[in-house]
Amino acid sequence: MDYLQLKGSQSLSGEIKISGAKNASLPLIAMTILAKNNVKISNLPHVADINTLLKLLSNLGATCERNNGYMHVDTSTLHETKATYDIVKTMRASILVLGPLLARFGKCEVSLPGGCAIGQRPVDLHLKALEQMGANIEIKSGYIEATAPNGLQGCDIIFDKITVTGTANIVMAASLANGITNITNAAREPEVVQLCEILNKSGVKIEGIGSAILTISGTNGKLIDIVDFSVIPDRIEAGTYLCAGAITNSKLTIINADPSHLGAVLAKLEEMGFSIESSLDSITIHPADEIKPVKIITQEYPAFPTDMQAQFMALATQANGVSIIEEKLFENRFMHVSELQRMGADISLNGHTATVSGKTKLSGTDVMATDLRASSALVLAGLIADGTTDIHRIYHLDRGYDSLDKKLQNVGVDIVRLSE
Ligand code: UD1
Repeated sequence: MDYLQLKGSQSLSGEIKISGAKNASLPLIAMTILAKNNVKISNLPHVADINTLLKLLSNLGATCERNNGYMHVDTSTLHETKATYDIVKTMRASILVLGPLLARFGKCEVSLPGGCAIGQRPVDLHLKALEQMGANIEIKSGYIEATAPNGLQGCDIIFDKITVTGTANIVMAASLANGITNITNAAREPEVVQLCEILNKSGVKIEGIGSAILTISGTNGKLIDIVDFSVIPDRIEAGTYLCAGAITNSKLTIINADPSHLGAVLAKLEEMGFSIESSLDSITIHPADEIKPVKIITQEYPAFPTDMQAQFMALATQANGVSIIEEKLFENRFMHVSELQRMGADISLNGHTATVSGKTKLSGTDVMATDLRASSALVLAGLIADGTTDIHRIYHLDRGYDSLDKKLQNVGVDIVRLSE
């Protein structure tokens, strides 16, 4: 198993190029199930989660080929409709194939994803919405068995809670349904917006894109011709590297980013005393005279993203004063706290709220990554810790960060990937 070793007390300089967004790529790859053509995708990140979903599609009979920086996905040869446990257990987002498989084949089986490190994460809202569309859903031996022999019917769906993959799943199902589906309380994340925009350009009429109410006119079972597209930049990767600039109080530029997706994150960095300069596709963070404490509440887009909570907690250890970080989306997303404490951070937890007192000196040691974003918080802490930090179990990090060690080396970080 690989681990990362990095030396602390570093100052960074230069540029980091942001990869395509993992969380946009996943629904867009699942969307190819709705296509009658060979779909050409660019700017897919090289991360494990993407390989997992491509493997799932290949197992179902699709052909996925990387060629000259493009991914070509051909689902015309798809013949299997069962997403098995061995794949789904490694990546919860595999649930994204449920809506499109059911819409195209009128039946499918998808393993239940189960819980994960950051909380229970049920898929009840996905299932309830598909039932409203006329699907018959049974849970048997850990599998969701879904059938809709007469196709899915458009209907009015009101999500009890905002769900990102739930919205994506139902948008894809509704794209081939018979009639119009209205989704109220839809997720507005940029990744959902891109999915809707590509479907819209590919012949599925979708109104309300980017709002909480989506209206999708289904094709009544007809497969669609999906246009070539390039995946939007990864806003969480971008935010993580901005935090790397912030925690080391360095000037750092990220390129191939989209500042318009990072409003809440940039606002918090500015509140903490950093100045930010943005162009259409780049962001530069400048050092702060004094890093100020911050109050953060994670919420759905466009509010502050839960996927940036751990990184800001690492950063808050270097602020002068008391920061308050409240996690509203996932009940157990504080697993990085005990590892940061082992490095010397002063953090107390009370239910869903963490209180971080700074500024504290951090010391390098052996730490364990527990989930994807928790891992990047440990990398950030390692950048300023005294001595050497060894981060173990980085398969979590590899799920969502494309070449993190190389990108950090390029801006001056002494970081290496080693084998245990
Ligand atoms: C997506 C992102 C993840 C991010 C999260 C919140 C992907 C692949 N993953 O995850 O990185 O942290 O959004 O921004 O895009 N819920 C239910 N029932 C459901 C579905 C969700 O109760 O059927 C709850 C969840 O437990 C959670 C909340 O709703 O508390 C939001 O979850 P959701 O938006 O669905 O997260 P994901 O789509 O899994």
